[in-house]
Amino acid sequence: MSGTGTILQALLAEGLPVVVVLADRPCRGLERAAADDIATELVDRREFGGFSDTFARDDFTTAVVEALHRHDVDLVVMAGFGTVLGQPVHDAYGGRILNTHPALLPAFPGWHAVEDALAAGATVTGCTVHLATLDTDAGPILAQQEVEVRPGDTAATLHERIKEVERRLYPETIRKVIAAGVSPGPGTP
Ligand code: GRF
Repeated sequence: MSGTGTILQALLAEGLPVVVVLADRPCRGLERAAADDIATELVDRREFGGFSDTFARDDFTTAVVEALHRHDVDLVVMAGFGTVLGQPVHDAYGGRILNTHPALLPAFPGWHAVEDALAAGATVTGCTVHLATLDTDAGPILAQQEVEVRPGDTAATLHERIKEVERRLYPETIRKVIAAGVSPGPGTP
C-alpha cells in the first residue's frame, strides 16, 4: 500500500494472515501495520528515480520481490499501491497478485478512477477485485459491486462510500482465493 491503509486495516480486522506490509513510500498505512506488530518493508521509490514515469521500474520491482521473498509471501494483495509494478513481480508471483480498484472495471482504470467517474457523469460506479497483470487494471475480474453516485457527491464522499464496500468485498474475495488454493509460482525460492 501507499496511503492511509484503511483497506489494510479491514483485512487485518477480518483476521487474514498478513505476514508483511510493504509500501513504496513512507505512509500512514505503514504506521498502522507497525502498531499491530506486523512486519513492514519500505521499498522507497524515491531511491529508484522518484515518482515520474521514468523511474527505474524493473529495479524497483525486483527490490519489491526480494522484500516479499524475505517474508515467504504466498499471495500479494495490493491495497492502494501507487506504483505499477514491472515484469519481475509477475515472473515471481504471476496469478497470485490481487488488486482492488475503486470503479467498475473496465470503466475508469487508473489512479483517478473516482474523479473520472464523477467527471463522466456516471450515476453508478463501484469497485472491482481483480488479478493484477502487467497491464494496469486489466487483469481477470474476480468480484465487483456497484455503488450509486449521489447528487452532490464529491470525490471524497464517493470514494469513502466505495471504500466501505471494498472493506467487505476485498477480504471476502481474498478468503475465497485462499480457500481455492494458492500454488507457489515458478519464481518462488
Ligand atoms: C482504495 O479505494 C483502493 O481501491 C485504491 O486505493 C484506495 C486505498 O484506500 N486503489 P486506503 O488508503 O486503504 O484507505
